[in-house]
Amino acid sequence: MQKPRHFLTLDDCSREELLGLLKRTGELKSGIPRSGKAKPLEGRYVGMIFEKPSTRTRVSFHVGISQLGGQAIFLNSREIQIGRGEPIRDTARVLSRYLDAIIIRTFGHNVLEEFARWSSIPVVNGLSDSHHPCQILGDLFTLQERGVDVLTMKAAWVGDGNNVANSWIEAASILGFSLKLACPEGYDPQLTGDSGKVTLVRDPSEAVQDADVVSTDVWASMGQEDEADVRQEVFRGYQVNSELLKGARKNVYVLHCLPAHRGEEITEEVMESAHSLVWDEAENRLHVQKAILEMLVE
Ligand code: CP
Ligand code: NVA
Repeated sequence: MQKPRHFLTLDDCSREELLGLLKRTGELKSGIPRSGKAKPLEGRYVGMIFEKPSTRTRVSFHVGISQLGGQAIFLNSREIQIGRGEPIRDTARVLSRYLDAIIIRTFGHNVLEEFARWSSIPVVNGLSDSHHPCQILGDLFTLQERGVDVLTMKAAWVGDGNNVANSWIEAASILGFSLKLACPEGYDPQLTGDSGKVTLVRDPSEAVQDADVVSTDVWASMGQEDEADVRQEVFRGYQVNSELLKGARKNVYVLHCLPAHRGEEITEEVMESAHSLVWDEAENRLHVQKAILEMLVE
């Protein structure tokens, strides 16, 4: 069996490939078809196993697959046998015989790795507890659209060292931009990244100093609902608000992958301000997903 190409983390791509994906995203957004085949997924079926809720990832992949000529099959994990304990390796081998690619949103990243090990079709990470690579590609593209040089920018992260933070760390390490993360003690990201590019601090004002872009995310991610009350206390000083942004560049951009909890990790004022790119960021998930699928499905 020939090993398929997977997209489980940003590290699955080289620097050149990531930059190529961003370029192709721009072409897709402008309606430029891939040379030779306008509908590269024609006659192809893409499965989507989701073990957690999703609005953006689910809908943007579904629409993107259709726009590329393919058919999406949504598989709620509770309604397929994997939810009753059928081994991942069995599900992976069976679905590989029907489908041409699969998108998986799950808890432990090891689920994705196990699926990919046994799969003969490409597997795409639609979010795991430790990575959200499609999101960061969309974020980088959104910044590029605004003229930000994603190779030399100063980026900041304020809040939980979660899946989105880890993928930011990978992006900084691959592309070489500077990333300062402010996370409370005990909530550091799993990854450390390239020490020359990625710095971890405790003070949010230190992280956002002179930043071109400030990014944040919810204090309690999916699966951490039981910790929500404790996290409310721990993260109290880690809010992206107008006061905090005074230390950043005057025209700083603010990103949030959404869904957002206004009044917690970000204020209503900042979300709705001219600094905020959150709606473009959400839209661009669609264009990025198409570039990823084009790359993986030959
Ligand atoms: N940002 C993001 O992945 O959103 P969903 O959880 O709605 O897919
Ligand atoms: N960190 C969040 C991201 C949601 C898109 C979560 O995992 O719930």
